Amino acid sequence: MFEVITFGSATQDIFLELTKTEINGSNFCLPLGGKVLVDEMQTFSGGGGTNVACSLANLGIKTAYCGKIGNDDPGKNILSDLAKYKVNPRFCLRDKTIATAVSFIISCEKDRTVLVFWGACHFLLKSEINFKEIQKTKWFYLAPFYEKTAELFGELIDFARNNNIKVAANPSMFQIEKEDQNINSLLPKIDLLLLNKEEAKVLTKNPNASVEETAKIIRRSCPGIIVITQGDDGALVFDSSHFYKISIYKVAVADKTGAGDSFGAGFLAGLLKENNIEYACCLAMVNSAKNISQEGAKNGLLEKAELKFLPKIDIVKERAF
Ligand SMILES: Nc1ncnc2c1ncn2[C@@H]1O[C@H](COP(=O)(O)OP(=O)(O)OP(=O)(O)O)[C@@H](O)[C@H]1O
Ligand SMILES: [Mg+2]
Repeated sequence: MFEVITFGSATQDIFLELTKTEINGSNFCLPLGGKVLVDEMQTFSGGGGTNVACSLANLGIKTAYCGKIGNDDPGKNILSDLAKYKVNPRFCLRDKTIATAVSFIISCEKDRTVLVFWGACHFLLKSEINFKEIQKTKWFYLAPFYEKTAELFGELIDFARNNNIKVAANPSMFQIEKEDQNINSLLPKIDLLLLNKEEAKVLTKNPNASVEETAKIIRRSCPGIIVITQGDDGALVFDSSHFYKISIYKVAVADKTGAGDSFGAGFLAGLLKENNIEYACCLAMVNSAKNISQEGAKNGLLEKAELKFLPKIDIVKERAF
């Protein structure tokens, strides 16, 4: 029996730092036919499904990852990270024909651009999932889905409902923008909905609403806990009666990749451990801050042993009505 099975991407993340590259407005300029010096390069495993799984397991939650990698070296690296963090890999398939997905994260001082190569994790099929065995869990965590895998979102949520499994979901902008994904019709079946501010605004089709109003609009169809992250402005959590406005835990940011994943994993771990929203807010905030203080989406994550010494996080609790 697992506490959580996570679903979503499993990638190789290649970080390229280009400090001397020219920037024109909001675009990187790379000279056609030229050579550009890369100041620093690092490679880590990434992808929402495995990031969240490793983060949860690091906090002592019994976790498995269900997804797909290629039969290649990047796939091996992902398996070795799952082993390192003690995530059960029994539902992680190796596709013989599709390569592991890769993200190239190109950054300069100002910001970063991500080049995405869709690979095995984006083409998971319903027929490849061992539904009999994935019943044995308390929660599903659906990290952002893309491409073919996105078609499984509704299937997995319905399966969870029919089998008494709770659902945490962090749908991607890809899923929210695609009308045929029908996210709105699935909101009533989600127990913990995690979105960033941009995703929440697109979902509600109300770009001018405040974040509190946005959460209230989502509440009309989603009875679960609603979390809207706002980058360095912190996050807003809405349960059925209160808003929790959480301030960030200040750190020197090294790399924001995986912030949403470590926030979501911390929040769910907090709920599982103490069934208390303020504790969940605190774990989410500290986990995400520690994570982005290091390069790589799985580095810096909060460990179980650190839970005894959590820093104080500012949370303002207000009645919503
Ligand atoms: N500069 C920062 N300092 C401290 N914490 C931060 C900072 N930026 C983000 N965070 C933490 O990470 C959380 C998630 O960030 P954000 O809202 O940018 O998620 P996201 O857009 O989903 O990220 P991702 O690119 O990983 O999908 C924030 O709510 C906050 O807790
Ligand atoms: Mg996100």
